[in-house]
Amino acid sequence: MSSDSIRLICNPFTHETLHLSDTSEGPVLVGDESATTFRVRDGIPILMNSANITNASQKSRRYYDAVAPIYAFTQSVYYRLNGGEAESRQEYLNYVRVKKGDRVLEVSVGNGANIRFLPKEAEYFGIDVSWKQLVRCKSTGACFGFEVELFQADAEHLPFVDNSFDVVFNVGSVNYFEDKSTAVDEMFRVAKPGALMVIADETEKAASSHNKLPIFRGYYNSWKTPVEPPVDELPSDAKNVRLTESRSGMYFSLQFTK
Ligand SMILES: C[S@@+](CC[C@H](N)C(=O)[O-])C[C@H]1O[C@@H](n2cnc3c(N)ncnc32)[C@H](O)[C@@H]1O
Repeated sequence: MSSDSIRLICNPFTHETLHLSDTSEGPVLVGDESATTFRVRDGIPILMNSANITNASQKSRRYYDAVAPIYAFTQSVYYRLNGGEAESRQEYLNYVRVKKGDRVLEVSVGNGANIRFLPKEAEYFGIDVSWKQLVRCKSTGACFGFEVELFQADAEHLPFVDNSFDVVFNVGSVNYFEDKSTAVDEMFRVAKPGALMVIADETEKAASSHNKLPIFRGYYNSWKTPVEPPVDELPSDAKNVRLTESRSGMYFSLQFTK
């Protein structure tokens, strides 16, 4: 974690700034006002605690910790059946317009499969509720040659100060969030004025067709139905709002700026 990154981090619950300190148990991030400390494990700050996250977030964390070892494999099989991973991801990543030198945040970064397809000349940050997905993301970065600063955190409590990022995006998890409105507000808060935000996930058409397959039932049963893009949850001052569909109506992509 560079000193530049530390300046962007805050306590996700109080928004106070944090500083790095070494203890006999390893490095920690400290918030002086609230006397809170957050552990840094294997270079990844743990900026959440179970008491402050929703049941849906806890359930996602358990689910993705369990499937992390096979996540990349299942994704590649799923995408192979749907026209190829690079081609399918590119359909919504085309809206994530990253310029040289941009500071980019992926909320729910998973194993880093999207960042792999984005321009290398930008600074990437990723948060995820699942520790095991973050560990996979670190190795995906090493394998595909991208660097990403990772944080274990909840989408509904982002650990960054206001106006920090040029691009904020989120793929494949908004349907899980218990409080989509808070998660969208958080993305908006940490985006710089003028920044681009993109939220993409499966549509109701995808959910209802996959839900017929017993193998997917556990995966979708925490979603609220019908699945709707969070257009009504956008802050009233969101600009340039645009909703598109890709992959034959199976995925939506909601784009807007601050
Ligand atoms: C389907 S995966 C998508 C991962 C990646 N964005 C991709 O496109 O491959 C969903 C991810 O969302 C994460 N997730 C679910 N709920 C979350 C929350 N409340 N906060 C942060 N991450 C969350 C999961 O741990 C998982 O890694």
